[in-house]
Amino acid sequence: MLEGKRLLLIVSGGVAAYKACELIRRLRDRGVDVRCVVTDGAQKFVTPLTFAALSENPVYTDLFSLKDESQMGHIRLSREADLILAAPASANLLARMAAGMADDLATAVLLASDKPVLVAPSMNVRMWTHPATQANMALLKRRGVFQVGPAEGDLACGEIGSGRLEQIQTIIDAVETLVTPRPQPLKGKRALVTSGPTAEPLDPVRYMTNRSSGKQGHAIAAALAELGAEVTLVSGPTQEPDPAGVSVVKIETAIEMLEACLRALPSDVAVFAAAVADWRAAEVASSKIKKQDGAAPALALVENPDILATIAHRAEGRPTLVIGFAAETGDVEAKAAAKRLRKGCDWIVANDVSPGAGVFGGDRNTVILIDQSGLEAWPTLTKLAVSQRLATRIANAFASQKRL
Ligand code: CTP
Repeated sequence: MLEGKRLLLIVSGGVAAYKACELIRRLRDRGVDVRCVVTDGAQKFVTPLTFAALSENPVYTDLFSLKDESQMGHIRLSREADLILAAPASANLLARMAAGMADDLATAVLLASDKPVLVAPSMNVRMWTHPATQANMALLKRRGVFQVGPAEGDLACGEIGSGRLEQIQTIIDAVETLVTPRPQPLKGKRALVTSGPTAEPLDPVRYMTNRSSGKQGHAIAAALAELGAEVTLVSGPTQEPDPAGVSVVKIETAIEMLEACLRALPSDVAVFAAAVADWRAAEVASSKIKKQDGAAPALALVENPDILATIAHRAEGRPTLVIGFAAETGDVEAKAAAKRLRKGCDWIVANDVSPGAGVFGGDRNTVILIDQSGLEAWPTLTKLAVSQRLATRIANAFASQKRL
């Protein structure tokens, strides 16, 4: 699958720069056209001539070189690749990428690029585990940069730990995954997903909310986007990063969530994974509620709109496939089946959120899916795997149109 692909390899400084030579050879064996950008730091370890000989292409080193810019300017370099791979990616390169700097050819190319970027970090274990490097890596990933490695083991500095450049084969596998076009069965379909909790204000400083982390809803939005759907994610306050390729609408209250969902229609499929607060304050106090002689204030609550039921019961413009979630504590099957009918959704994904089940905030989920033809019990899966399975089931349903 790599034959004929164009890869721009950025080699940054570090002892592992020599491993880029083997990487180039193996990529060339697979028919990849490799062009190298070599930073000043990397040139202290391996000469550009070595990379030129191995890649059988000119090597680029200098942002301000008349020769390099006239041969292949940094904008063209960034645009003419199918993928940019930084291997090894030093702590310094990651920091400069995170800061959006463009002070040498490597960072200028990265900043000017709209192509997928994969980084293979390599550095001393303390540099890798330093909060600054970890924060830089996390930021880059939120922006859609892919990461492979580092691996654990003996490091050139004599220490043992995480920081070794990942195995060459593993890096090549990651390159292959990123440049191989994946099937997009939901291409042309629009999807709406709700996620996270809602926060309902009581006064300017206090609000009511719940323990939803947004992990499941965000993962569903990402999984649908990976299958080619055009996804709008309406999310309450969460710590989750925005999924790549998804348009995210951030809201706080249930009423705002309903309005954002209605604005996102029409949609072919809608998945309601948010834990919407059932009630809000009848009146939000305009100033902070004060203590009064030991008497607790009486809070009058009113019911929030049911977003799922509102959209599932629309006479016009109802998404073809409406999917609800059911968070239950005990007697899950019966309660979820009744909830599916009451709310008017086509499928309901139900889980047990009893305190012992560890669903809220956790990474795993055990769900049952109920549709018009019955019940499926899924094994305990990561929230990511639940999302992928659900997205595939949605794609299959549209493909067969049978279950809709
Ligand atoms: N839901 C919604 N709007 C609400 C409440 C819930 O869209 N105001 C959606 C949730 O996103 C979920 C489904 O309805 O898909 C069921 O949520 P759940 O909290 O299990 O049910 P409730 O409606 O709160 O019902 P009950 O209190 O009876 O469990």
